[in-house]
Amino acid sequence: MNEMDMTQIPRHIAIIMDGNGRWAQKHKLPRSAGHQQGVEAIRDVIKMASQLKVRVLTLYAFSTENWKRPEEEVSFLMKLLVEYLKKEIEELHKQNVIIRTIGDLSAFPLRVQREIEKAKEKTAANNGLIMNIALNYGSRNEIGRALKTIAEKYKEQIISSEDFTDEIIGAYLDTKGLPDPDLLIRTSGEKRISNFLLWQIAYAELYFTDVLWPDFRGEDLIKAIVDYQLRQRRFGGLG
Ligand code: IPE
Ligand code: IPE
Ligand code: MG
Repeated sequence: MNEMDMTQIPRHIAIIMDGNGRWAQKHKLPRSAGHQQGVEAIRDVIKMASQLKVRVLTLYAFSTENWKRPEEEVSFLMKLLVEYLKKEIEELHKQNVIIRTIGDLSAFPLRVQREIEKAKEKTAANNGLIMNIALNYGSRNEIGRALKTIAEKYKEQIISSEDFTDEIIGAYLDTKGLPDPDLLIRTSGEKRISNFLLWQIAYAELYFTDVLWPDFRGEDLIKAIVDYQLRQRRFGGLG
């Protein structure tokens, strides 16, 4: 904590929460226990991010590719999400957290969609940390949906080809209104992006750690931020 520069806190941190299955395997438990334990990490990281006045925390919870997993695991993850929202919503609300999502929620069961909607509505007027949960999220799917909307507006002559700027394209993505991530963290030692925020991470700093997501805590977030603060961001210029 002492090494941290409180004036250089990333505005937006995105996390690929990976390694739940391997955590479970290591503890000789079923994969579901790893996902369950992952909730502890979420709780701790939200608390720390709020305390540090991070503006946006985007958490990759379920990808468009995760439907390939056994049905049993997919439905466990849905159940866990609903339970999490029901159980934590009061505490999140008290912490002034705003819940948002990115991804195509229409693929989820209605009761899951309703629970998410409720959490969003309840926290919409808060002004603390934006907890942005990526659910049935895939960057290519997001860009495809954005293109479809842009094509429709173009056809209706609401926008012209001059409007195809970075800013306007960004405004059709699910992350509209949010700053781009400054820092992208992936846990569990994998060094890939897995279809996450491809457009938005153009200039994010990448941080990979071997810590498995269920073991990740506020102090690991601090480590990542301290590492981020040692980097020189040049954005193509000379710094
Ligand atoms: C991340 O942990 C959670 C989700 C993708 C939902 P994994 O379940 O991918 O864990 P590993 O990669 O198998 O260890
Ligand atoms: C990325 O993790 C998706 C989430 C964390 C939700 P995966 O475990 O699904 O990614 P791959 O398959 O190893 O790339
Ligand atoms: Mg994984």
